[in-house]
Amino acid sequence: MPASPPKEVVVLGAGGHAKVVIELLQAAGYEIAALLDADPTPRQVLGHGVQGDDRALDELRRDGLSLAFVAIGDNRRRVALAEAVRAAGFSLVNAVSPSATVSPSAHLGEGVAIMAGAVVNAEVTLGDLCIVNTGATLDHEVSVGMGAHIAPGVAISGNVKVGDLAMMGVGSCAIQGVSIGRGAMIGAGAAVVRDIPDGALAVGVPARVRRQADA
Ligand SMILES: CC(C)(COP(=O)(O)OP(=O)(O)OC[C@H]1O[C@@H](n2cnc3c(N)ncnc32)[C@H](O)[C@@H]1OP(=O)(O)O)[C@@H](O)C(=O)NCCC(=O)NCCS
Repeated sequence: MPASPPKEVVVLGAGGHAKVVIELLQAAGYEIAALLDADPTPRQVLGHGVQGDDRALDELRRDGLSLAFVAIGDNRRRVALAEAVRAAGFSLVNAVSPSATVSPSAHLGEGVAIMAGAVVNAEVTLGDLCIVNTGATLDHEVSVGMGAHIAPGVAISGNVKVGDLAMMGVGSCAIQGVSIGRGAMIGAGAAVVRDIPDGALAVGVPARVRRQADA
């Protein structure tokens, strides 16, 4: 059987997070058709030229491109830009590393990144535009909200709920069944053993709320 042609994808973002995403999209069989960034200065990123900012989306769509990935680490900027990308007529693909382990019973939204070595176990739900970063582990029935970011090396036990736009910092963990609120920020290395309210910044072992902001 002839090999299917590579699928072309427009990547938005050209920073460090985008570099990881570009390599895993390629490993998953995508071809990078265009790279756009808020800083449109022409330059090369991993051998791909930056071709302008998101104002180029309409023209790329007219050229026949229809798949995109928003590779921006900041949760709110990623979600806002994804709205513009969808409004321009693009579908968001998922960027899943071939070396991640994703359960067949997991449910993935759109525009999701799952980096190398991550483990996504049975009946996990990942909302649109969330990031499961390098080596993070999500046990059974975890739910991660839209636009949330699970940083490298995070360990989440079963039945945990992570709210929309929340961030779990590098190496943090959560015991089974806790809820982390919308827009909450869990500091690097923290251990979440109680529910964390919307918009809270929590740090330490056990994690304690240090600041409270709007979610
Ligand atoms: C928690 C965090 C958001 C706080 O950032 P911040 O508001 O800029 O805080 P500061 O660096 O000004 O530190 C404020 C205080 O909190 C302490 N602190 C900061 N991060 C902490 C952490 N993770 N655990 C415990 N204490 C922490 C600082 O030591 C400082 O204490 P002090 O007031 O006694 O001196 C940040 O330190 C953090 O952990 N970010 C995670 C980043 C990450 O995982 N990125 C992954 C990218 S892929």
